[in-house]
Amino acid sequence: MNVVFLITSFLVLRAECAKILGIFPAPGHSQFVLSDILMTELAKRGHQVTVICPHEPKNQPPNYKTIVTKELIRDTAGDFSLWNLESQSLFKNIKATYVFGNFITEKTLQNKEVQELLQSNEHFDLVIVEHFFNDALKGFAAHFKAPLVLFSSMGSTEWNRECMGAPMLPTINAVTYTQYTNKMRFFQRIRNLYGTLFDYLYRHYVFYPEQRNYMAKYFPSSMDFDKVLYNASLMLLNSHVTTSENALLPYNMVEIGGFHVVSKPLDKEVQTLLDGATDGAILFSLGSFLHSSDLSEDTRDAIFRVFAKLKQKVLWKFETDLPDKPENVFISKWWKQRDILAHRNIKLFITHGGLLSTEEAIVNGVPMVGVPILADQKMNMARAKSNGVACVVSLSKLSEETLFEAVNETLNNPSYRNNVKRLSSLIKDRPMQPLDLAMYWIEYTIRHSGMTFKPSSLYLHWFEMYMVDIVFFALFNCLVVVLFVISGFKFVKGCISTCRKSDKKKKQ
Ligand SMILES: *[C@@H]1O[C@H](CO)[C@@H](O)[C@H](O)[C@H]1NC(C)=O
Ligand SMILES: *[C@@H]1O[C@H](CO)[C@@H](O)[C@H](O)[C@H]1NC(C)=O
Repeated sequence: MNVVFLITSFLVLRAECAKILGIFPAPGHSQFVLSDILMTELAKRGHQVTVICPHEPKNQPPNYKTIVTKELIRDTAGDFSLWNLESQSLFKNIKATYVFGNFITEKTLQNKEVQELLQSNEHFDLVIVEHFFNDALKGFAAHFKAPLVLFSSMGSTEWNRECMGAPMLPTINAVTYTQYTNKMRFFQRIRNLYGTLFDYLYRHYVFYPEQRNYMAKYFPSSMDFDKVLYNASLMLLNSHVTTSENALLPYNMVEIGGFHVVSKPLDKEVQTLLDGATDGAILFSLGSFLHSSDLSEDTRDAIFRVFAKLKQKVLWKFETDLPDKPENVFISKWWKQRDILAHRNIKLFITHGGLLSTEEAIVNGVPMVGVPILADQKMNMARAKSNGVACVVSLSKLSEETLFEAVNETLNNPSYRNNVKRLSSLIKDRPMQPLDLAMYWIEYTIRHSGMTFKPSSLYLHWFEMYMVDIVFFALFNCLVVVLFVISGFKFVKGCISTCRKSDKKKKQ
């Protein structure tokens, strides 16, 4: 009986095989890791999947088609001096991301195969878009008359919150490019307010108009940008309370952070290397966007001197040969980070603090030394630091002393390991595995044709939402009352004095 019930509910719950279009335009390798896992899982469940993405996935089943926008990788290489962003102002960082966003949006829409798809009679039951400064691409959902699911590789950010109707309060939502957590002191809240306003104004008055033009220019059907912008049924967030704090999310923003952390067996060579690291090992990687080989020679030598002092083996992601490296340092262009972090001998992870890396460290219970550089990295590391699982060294202050102090502290003060073990058990203890949760919500959206209960915040202007109109109205009322009282007072005073005058006249 139970079994029959289970089987029938399983059948009812499953969305019939659907045709799904996934658009993941960002050239970052880590973003590709996430999208590929999501879309492959959908294909495994029998859906017909088409993916637009700059990277070519390997060994895909026949129901997983790709349109590879390779030109994006070619055109972004060396174009953006990412290292410089570390020392740039908050405003410059915000601006740079929107400029980058416009670039990838237009490049994606210009692709010949993408245009052919738009001109075809293809039909889709669902469109998934990575929400990454590319709002015009939401037009794919409107064009194919399919519900829209957004995916964010960065968790709950100011632009994500606004599109889903989640309040963005500068007092408790730190802007992505700050080095703040959501608990801010007075002057941090002031700077955060500036950042929030600048971001809002830039997005609405510079970025959105360009996105609106792309939508008008590259989509064959005409659509209302302002309606399409806020029409997502669901947003999946690559975040979790252990990495991104309690984000106060509406019900259709669902956190699936950690879904990509599945470790596979290591290559034999690396396995032997790590098994033999009886004093432990350290992984050092600045991510896929930034190359350690671009570090200045001084910085590199300082790093070497620190590593030479350690008894641990150090695995460094480095893109060129390093003939004079210390004996305990092993370099490679590409370490399988997720699998290495899962090895029991890894004692420390020196990282740029990207969200994926942070999640991988936390799932595997490895303390971190963060050298954050751009995007959300400073914020991720500020959060990790406040959770007591990381020490942070800023790139501009990176020297033998500062790096050694941070490395020694995280290796030898047991509180870091204890805290990260606690977070590890929290991120693993969930009602449903995050990838299954993502599948549930995606198929839910298909089953219900995108029906959602939009929060009422989406029907209000910002000044209505934040009660500016009410406050002005109340102030106006107060003013009217005050003026009324004053003029009443004057009137009475005037009456009294005329009465007195006439009294005097009578007496005379
Ligand atoms: C908004 O989404 C709903 C549900 O998917 C859809 O029916 C509607 O046509 C969409 N509106 C626009 C303007 O795209
Ligand atoms: C290394 O860290 C430990 C634990 O915090 C501390 O006791 C020790 O003094 C540090 N060593 C150096 C050389 O800083």
